Amino acid sequence: MSNPFDLANEMGYRAWRDAKLAAYPRSVDELIVPLADPRHLTPSEIGALEARCTRANMAIYSAPHLPAADKSLARQLGQQLGLTRLEGNYLADEDGLSSITPASDEDNVRGEFIPYTHKPINWHTDGYYNTLDRRILGMTLHCAQDAEEGGANALLDHEIAYIQLRDVNPDYVAALMQPDAMTIPARMDEDNVARPEQSGPVFAVDPEQGFLYMRYTARTRSIVWKDDAVTQAAVKTLADILANSEYSLTAHLRPGMGLICNNVLHTRSGFTDSPEHRRLLYRGRYYDRLRFDLNTAPSRVA
Ligand SMILES: [Fe+2]
Repeated sequence: MSNPFDLANEMGYRAWRDAKLAAYPRSVDELIVPLADPRHLTPSEIGALEARCTRANMAIYSAPHLPAADKSLARQLGQQLGLTRLEGNYLADEDGLSSITPASDEDNVRGEFIPYTHKPINWHTDGYYNTLDRRILGMTLHCAQDAEEGGANALLDHEIAYIQLRDVNPDYVAALMQPDAMTIPARMDEDNVARPEQSGPVFAVDPEQGFLYMRYTARTRSIVWKDDAVTQAAVKTLADILANSEYSLTAHLRPGMGLICNNVLHTRSGFTDSPEHRRLLYRGRYYDRLRFDLNTAPSRVA
């Protein structure tokens, strides 16, 4: 089939769009897959995760019976699903996963970045400031400890955002596919690395595999949108769509639960916790997309 993300392909787009919306989960519960042991997936568990990701580019696993703070759960789960090229950042732990938890008052480095505070985080995909050769295609979030109150994640498949925007006006999609649609000014990033100014598209189609990739932030600081009328209108419309999308699903990850996804759009609500009960999530950012054909589980005789 020709690529539905091709703006010239109206017929193919219509067919794909209708099937996508019909299959899209309308409750977060439809995303949840209980796992006996995330470190050793069974073929049926892999199938169940694949079914969710086919519909929504994401799945939520649940293994509350295992020690939630064990980082190997998230790491080994990802490995079995093709997530191997982990972006190791400056603030990440030795194994490359980042411990997302409010920084102590003395930790000035982490405390400067919103993920390490109690503040809400608006719609974004991870690594939106990366260059295209370092695209974050896969993302995992494992909950070791949830907040006392708040800290939920709203989730939206970026393909749905694409559909909702294209349905309003295909010219808006075209505008956000321009290589200079979005510019991140030169800055020091979360990795404490000086990054030069860099521009790129919001929506891009992978030239080889044909999947849709999205880099986006609803933040208005530290981001410059192309200064023409259609791009400005597209950005405003997309922000409105995200703020009101009937397709957005809200997950409150409990200890032992986690998200695996092809870097879908997400938010975080503000939260409260205490020194005795710190919210702690392990986040992995990967240069890989999820795959379900690796058959890493020990073979079982049928
Ligand atoms: Fe994020």
